[in-house]
Amino acid sequence: MKKININTSAIVFDNTSQLSIEDANLMNKAIEARKKAYAPYSRFNVGAAILLDNGEIITGNNQENAAYPSGMCAERVAIWKAGSEFPNMIVKKIAITAASTISKVEKPVGPCGACRQTLSEYEINQKQPIEIIFMGETGSIVKTESLLSLLPFSFDSTYL
Ligand code: THU
Repeated sequence: MKKININTSAIVFDNTSQLSIEDANLMNKAIEARKKAYAPYSRFNVGAAILLDNGEIITGNNQENAAYPSGMCAERVAIWKAGSEFPNMIVKKIAITAASTISKVEKPVGPCGACRQTLSEYEINQKQPIEIIFMGETGSIVKTESLLSLLPFSFDSTYL
């Protein structure tokens, strides 16, 4: 028997003015996308913006449905939009932001488990880490150097 430690680290910025120009620009695109979210049921609007290594920025936002489970998260809308448009793409980073019309979202909102799993497929295939940058509407911003650092013991195609 042995005990193993899983270490993960993140950088926490106090506000967007501390981000690099590239990251701040990407977060602004995520904010613009968030404002176009279709979330009439949860009133929780999420926006995501993906930077590809060819410089393209692909955005997405959550799309809800009266049959609740048929809705989709912003991150998966964005990554599938990117994957379908640029099949051989390399994803450099994704910025995510969330805001609610019923409460103030002041804490960083990380991607849900299903979105982490979905994004991991792309990170593994491209053999290059995807930086994840996330925030609420205001407040601090978290940045991790890779998706897999947010998903230890993840499931991938090698198990099949
Ligand atoms: N949502 C996202 O878009 N991304 C996440 O990572 C977490 C949750 C959306 C789904 C739903 O439309 C709303 O937020 C409330 O769960």
